[in-house]
Amino acid sequence: MSINHRSEGLLGRRGLKIAPSVLAADFGRLRQEVQAAEKAGADLLHLDVMDGHFVPNITIGPDIVAAVRAAVSIPIDSHLMISRPRDYVKRFADAGADIIFIHVESEGDTAETLGHIRECGAAAGITLNPETPLDAVRPFLGMADFALVMTVRPGFGGQKFMASELAKAKAISAMGKPVAIDGGVGPLNARACVENGAEILVAGTSVFRGGDIAKNIAELRKAALGGS
Ligand code: DX5
Ligand code: ZN
Repeated sequence: MSINHRSEGLLGRRGLKIAPSVLAADFGRLRQEVQAAEKAGADLLHLDVMDGHFVPNITIGPDIVAAVRAAVSIPIDSHLMISRPRDYVKRFADAGADIIFIHVESEGDTAETLGHIRECGAAAGITLNPETPLDAVRPFLGMADFALVMTVRPGFGGQKFMASELAKAKAISAMGKPVAIDGGVGPLNARACVENGAEILVAGTSVFRGGDIAKNIAELRKAALGGS
């Protein structure tokens, strides 16, 4: 199977993209929240998948991804913070994920899993935790369409941004790979993220906080692009 048209569109469109992290949305109003984010100019949506084993939290499964897929037409990514991602790639691809991010720290054959993601029609992303050295992902960048640099320890939204991780984003972007940054991203650090090569800013709390998603996305985008 070839890569789907939404993933292709994302890959073909360089420049800043804002990816609201649905983890910070009101799950009781999930459909309205993701539609509001789309209407507010989100470029894609980020869905955090946690298994209570790879990280100490349990969140979204494939059925929720499918529900979000049915509610919006922008691309969605699935960030798999699970111990055995290979076993679930097809489920998330079939549910409609356009990019599937796996962690280099998870179990299994990382290269094979990245290939399998593409076989399933999604773009493949490789992710690394703050403690993980850049050298751990280097061998896999050629097999990935995107890299995701964590600027918090994965597991929960609303944590403090770790500026120490920006150097990894810069180095990966210098190798020509589109980079996303995830964790604690907001107007105060968005410009630094972009200056260090980030093309996709994943932001949960700073997008959904206070309920004015359009205002929050506009502020984030303005800050990222260097507006005052
Ligand atoms: C953390 C998740 C993030 C999280 C970001 O494990 O991967 O995507 O939702 O949330 P904020 O923007 O609140 O740090
Ligand atoms: Zn995430």
